Amino acid sequence: MKPPIPKEFWDDRFSGDEFAYGDRASRLLMGWCDVVSSEAKTALVPACGEGRDAVYLASLGLDVTAVDMSELGLAKTEALAKARGVMVKTVQANLFEWDWPDAGFDVVASMFAHMPPDARPKLHALYKKTLKPGGLIFIEGFSPEQIAYQKRYNSGGPQEVDMLYAAGMIQGDFDDLETLAFWTGVETLNEGKYHTGPAALLRAVFRKDGD
Ligand SMILES: C[S@@+](CC[C@H](N)C(=O)[O-])C[C@H]1O[C@@H](n2cnc3c(N)ncnc32)[C@H](O)[C@@H]1O
Repeated sequence: MKPPIPKEFWDDRFSGDEFAYGDRASRLLMGWCDVVSSEAKTALVPACGEGRDAVYLASLGLDVTAVDMSELGLAKTEALAKARGVMVKTVQANLFEWDWPDAGFDVVASMFAHMPPDARPKLHALYKKTLKPGGLIFIEGFSPEQIAYQKRYNSGGPQEVDMLYAAGMIQGDFDDLETLAFWTGVETLNEGKYHTGPAALLRAVFRKDGD
């Protein structure tokens, strides 16, 4: 499957010295740091961008694999990891062509990996396949209400409403997992040039059944 937004778009976005979405991890992941560091040893960060979440998880002591199609994003991931004194394994791949390991990771951390409706459920099924029993999936993204916040505050996210995370849609994608946390609401982002200002968000944490 072809990526919905071409690789060149992301390479261009990541070509500057600044971090387009900042270099601090997602607030969702930071809020769960105690659970993650006590329960998990390995993490996958699909669509890692410039690596803010991958590097954060590595700093918690996890063995982290970060996948993205943008080499420029991955180069910045590696530079950020080096600057923070941690290691992240980077993989350049189209997520729809990558050979996802079965039950390979304790954590999947998917932040702002918005996809169109034909691709999103496929990607989320791959998250479940690659998660170990008992493992955790973290999902963060913009909810459909973000369309109004983009117009008013230019605070980020795709402009196609069907790429945004409706609550029922995300619940449906993960209805075979236990829901540990689920939140939608408005928060003021301060995550680099492209995620700044009041924004409508969805955050969720799911657990796969243990053995
Ligand atoms: C909005 S950015 C989010 C980056 C990062 N997760 C963050 O929150 O800072 C979306 C990322 O998804 C990546 N991406 C989109 N479609 C992809 C695909 N099919 N395969 C691999 N990476 C993809 C882009 O290259 C980009 O880095």
